[in-house]
Amino acid sequence: MTDHAFPLAGVIGYPIGHSKSPRLHRYWLGRYGIAGDYVPLPVSDDNLRHVLHTLPRMGFVGVNITIPHKVTVMSIADQVTDRATLIGAANTLIFGSDGRIYADNTDGYGFIANLKQGAPDWDPSLGPATVLGAGGAARAVISSLIDAGVPHIFLSNRTRPKAETLKQDFGSRIEVVDWVKAGNVIEDSTTLVNTTSLGMQGAAEFRVPLDGLRPGTLVTDLVYAPLRTKLLETAEAMGCQTVDGLGMLLHQAVPAFERWFGRRPEVDDATRNAILS
Ligand code: ATR
Repeated sequence: MTDHAFPLAGVIGYPIGHSKSPRLHRYWLGRYGIAGDYVPLPVSDDNLRHVLHTLPRMGFVGVNITIPHKVTVMSIADQVTDRATLIGAANTLIFGSDGRIYADNTDGYGFIANLKQGAPDWDPSLGPATVLGAGGAARAVISSLIDAGVPHIFLSNRTRPKAETLKQDFGSRIEVVDWVKAGNVIEDSTTLVNTTSLGMQGAAEFRVPLDGLRPGTLVTDLVYAPLRTKLLETAEAMGCQTVDGLGMLLHQAVPAFERWFGRRPEVDDATRNAILS
């Protein structure tokens, strides 16, 4: 908890207008009657370091970091958590009272917390997971799946070398699968995760063959615009459990809000509706 009477937090990106985080944190601030604010901060690459060293002197207790700064910020922080180091990116900064910058990554936590809430019976240890995509989001997902006890991960990405790099970083539980063969391993998986932008409004359609999906498999999509993606609709029609991606965005914000504002916020229907309205 901070000593500031009116703690400030925010989200730094470039551009930043699209971010849902200000609405989320402001909703929680209002709901719990906490004095403080959370603002969008458009900051370009060349100003990032200067801004991060100035914000703690202006009443800021921390910030979220989004595209394109999630990797760069690691070299500016004074201390980086092990999980952020493993993921290779940070999404949450906490400013110490001495101005020191602590960097963490809560995306993996948000991913797992969302699945536990949306599919309470899901047991990650029961079988392999298929992860589609090998970008920044996939790194957070894979690290948290390994922590959660998934025995094996089929990893498939359009650009195969990126998946090979993730295998080097995350180890022997990962098996890289050609993009054109992704559909084949889905039938052996009890968890399926789309971390690519396929199916997002304005992006290419999701075309990975889903005929092999087994009823009961947990299917989740990090894409949350639209909320019900074609992947989730198809999976549901095939008898799979589905969890949409909005919850990951909400849950990844929980540890940060708690650190900055001193209260652990709830993720419930009211929170979802506040973001969607
Ligand atoms: P994020 O941080 O959200 O993961 P990213 O690092 O840009 O974003 O990664 C985007 C992912 O979507 C990548 O896995 C990308 O595949 P490539 O590594 O081959 O680029 C995947 N992706 C984007 N457009 C795609 C498409 N049309 N077909 C298949 N995969 C696509």
